[in-house]
Amino acid sequence: MRFTAGVLTISDRASSGVYEDKSGKVLVELLEDFGLEVRKYEIVADDFESIKEKLLAYTDEEISLILTSGGTGFSQRDITPEASLAVIEKRADGIVEAIRNESAKITPMAYLSRAVAGIRGKSLIINFPGSPKACRENFEIIRPFLFHGLETIAGCDKH
Ligand code: MTE
Repeated sequence: MRFTAGVLTISDRASSGVYEDKSGKVLVELLEDFGLEVRKYEIVADDFESIKEKLLAYTDEEISLILTSGGTGFSQRDITPEASLAVIEKRADGIVEAIRNESAKITPMAYLSRAVAGIRGKSLIINFPGSPKACRENFEIIRPFLFHGLETIAGCDKH
């Protein structure tokens, strides 16, 4: 079975064209290299309703893995975790615990990410930070358990 993926970049500046969305492109590349079929790649502003709307649409389509990038920090406009929790049915805290613990070995700033992860229907949603470097680092952290997690959600786990 080939799993599908969606990338949602969340950034006021990238969505208004002030700068190029590098982190989203990095995530698309990483997901394709991992063997997933990337069906969605969009950019939205740091706006609760816009983020929620996209996450609902992606999960309604049963996209297997949805990675968001950006909006997890302490800035006034950062609202990605709250919008994600508005659609998540089951939290997957272990994933973000792993990301924060391993990332903190690279930079203590990792503890400033309020990222969440969880499941809605057949989809796994994980918040990544906004920098391309952080996205690459986060992906390496989830790589060892990602496929097994997707298999379990899809119900094709043989264990
Ligand atoms: N995690 C990793 N692995 N590498 C990083 O460079 N940067 C941190 C953190 N997590 C970072 C990281 C920084 S500087 C911030 S402010 C938070 O993620 C939140 O980022 P965001 O607001 O772009 O989502």
